[in-house]
Amino acid sequence: MDDLLLKVEDLRVSYHTYAGEVQSVRGVSFDVKRGETVAIVGESGCGKSVTAKSIMGLIMDPGEVKEGSHIWFEGKDLTQNTKKQWRDYRGNECAMIFQDALTSLDPTMRVGKQIEEVLLVHGKASRAEAAGKAVEILRRVGIPNPEIRVREYPHQFSGGMRQRAMIATALVCGPKLLIADEPTTALDVTIQAQIMDLMKELQKDTGAAIILITHDLGVVAGIVKRICVMYSGKIVERGNSADIFYHPHHPYTWSLLNAVPRLDLENKQSLMTIEGTPPDLLDPPKGCPFCTRCRYCMPVCREEEPPVTDFGDGHEASCWLQDERAPRTDAEFMHNLKKQENKD
Ligand SMILES: Nc1ncnc2c1ncn2[C@@H]1O[C@H](COP(=O)(O)OP(=O)(O)OP(=O)(O)O)[C@@H](O)[C@H]1O
Ligand code: SF4
Ligand SMILES: [Mg+2]
Repeated sequence: MDDLLLKVEDLRVSYHTYAGEVQSVRGVSFDVKRGETVAIVGESGCGKSVTAKSIMGLIMDPGEVKEGSHIWFEGKDLTQNTKKQWRDYRGNECAMIFQDALTSLDPTMRVGKQIEEVLLVHGKASRAEAAGKAVEILRRVGIPNPEIRVREYPHQFSGGMRQRAMIATALVCGPKLLIADEPTTALDVTIQAQIMDLMKELQKDTGAAIILITHDLGVVAGIVKRICVMYSGKIVERGNSADIFYHPHHPYTWSLLNAVPRLDLENKQSLMTIEGTPPDLLDPPKGCPFCTRCRYCMPVCREEEPPVTDFGDGHEASCWLQDERAPRTDAEFMHNLKKQENKD
């Protein structure tokens, strides 16, 4: 069987608002192999959720997936899907878990019923079998006393348990791809770690591929093999975990790494954010999108989009500093020095 599960090719998504066209995703390409975990990391507003919703077929008016975008799933272009094909695919082939389980689970419906509905809609179980399967999957995601809990409503669950129930709902039909959009952001750190462990464990069992979306590089450390760093609707650097954590080449990735929470520091460096604000997606800059916040910005950065530099083995970055005509700077040296200082 073909190893490649998903291939997103030049995805462009805009929202047509009264103020103009918000270019939320501006030419994103990446692929996901069967059973692997790929992370998409970037600050708030960079287009992570819009990318995820595009793969789920959830871009609604006034949003538009632009002509020329392709989302190949097992070799078939999802952008050509009819409404019925999207419905069959969603939950069955690909499922998504959202940041806040309270808003994604139906508050008026018992948790067990919601899981049963998913099974019934996709014809994965008869009504008689569905109840048993709901209990089984809740037990699998670590909910204690699932026979009782199936009859409860989402508000009777704690935050961590709601997220477990959400994962159960997403996985009950055995999707080949799971999109986890900031699945742990609303949870405290200990529960976050438990949920990440659970996802890893379930992935081992089910063989599902995962797209893990987060603004925090710290969350993906040790969990994912490949990372895409997104900024202003584009992927500015990509590579395997070691490339991104130990040999990053894009100044935005350096900033993200410096913003990774350090739980061991008492002076709350963990709250460090990146100075400045991302560009306005109503009128994105014509050159490098990071130029207004980059301390290494050169005149060319404001004029022309940086080309992609290939460092081999899937590691790529889009930055003019990699051009042989660029002046040699202390950039990488300074970044590495800072890393060393943080370690000491
Ligand atoms: N329904 C909408 N109408 C107008 N603009 C939208 C809509 N949804 C998203 N956008 C815009 O698209 C851009 C990308 O949004 P997206 O939700 O993908 O960001 P994100 O990376 O997921 O951020 P966060 O980390 O805060 O979840 C933002 O500028 C946002 O304002
Ligand atoms: S292209 Fe220029 S502005 Fe953009 S990240 Fe590289 S050095 Fe900074
Ligand atoms: Mg989001």
